[in-house]
Amino acid sequence: MSTAKEWSKQSVIDYYYQHRHDVSDLYPSEKVFLPRVLFPGAKVLDVGCASGGFFNIMRTFEPNIEYTGIDLSEVALELARNRYPEAKFVLTEGFDLPFEDNTFDLVHCTSIFNNEPNYQAMLKEMYRVSNRFVIADIRLLKGIGKQQNSIYNIQFEGDSVEATVPYVVNDADEVANFILRLEPKPKALRGTGYFHRLAKEAESDAEVCMAILLVQKGGRENGSTVIDTEDLPIDFSISGA
Ligand SMILES: C[S@@+](CC[C@H](N)C(=O)[O-])C[C@H]1O[C@@H](n2cnc3c(N)ncnc32)[C@H](O)[C@@H]1O
Repeated sequence: MSTAKEWSKQSVIDYYYQHRHDVSDLYPSEKVFLPRVLFPGAKVLDVGCASGGFFNIMRTFEPNIEYTGIDLSEVALELARNRYPEAKFVLTEGFDLPFEDNTFDLVHCTSIFNNEPNYQAMLKEMYRVSNRFVIADIRLLKGIGKQQNSIYNIQFEGDSVEATVPYVVNDADEVANFILRLEPKPKALRGTGYFHRLAKEAESDAEVCMAILLVQKGGRENGSTVIDTEDLPIDFSISGA
């Protein structure tokens, strides 16, 4: 697990203040689901919001949203509050969200699970507080059986490593089967993404699938889950879907 200390290093704060506030900063795969699930009046929770860039990105797609960002770095949140006073920012951990079940239409979380070994606990919590959609990105490989853990050097400016956090690649089938066991059972699991070399900060040039997943929350009806991985260069082997 990473902490506020690592994510509040000056170079990280500066990087996320200067980048990832505009649609043009997004990877193409990040633009696939997000505009489709935002609608006028949507209540959105952004987990790991840093200095609030996705508020600006989301309102470019849909100006009328009710946005809440959470993060464990108070330094990042202070910058977010000053820059976007019309949005709401809360200091909290993604593992224990201080919101009722089914509060948000969309719960969004990017660039967190690649540094978080216990993605399951966070995803379960995000699914709990969503009443409709969850979007998260995650690094996947097929057939590795269990999670691969290495180290990610936080090194946004220059050569010096300011801190290290875990770097995590997950087994694609484990992730899909974990999602399909969420309760209530999801209505749909969709994916998009591409294979790419790991960032240099991860000390490896292995190629992994950079996946964005869209999970649509189910209701009481408990029907089967639509699985759409057409745009994902990895298939899921589902046990008992
Ligand atoms: C790599 S930045 C990503 C920022 C933004 N989501 C994006 O995609 O550009 C990760 C952010 O998530 C926050 N973070 C990491 N782990 C967290 C956790 N367990 N709970 C809440 N925030 C977390 C960090 O403080 C940092 O601001």
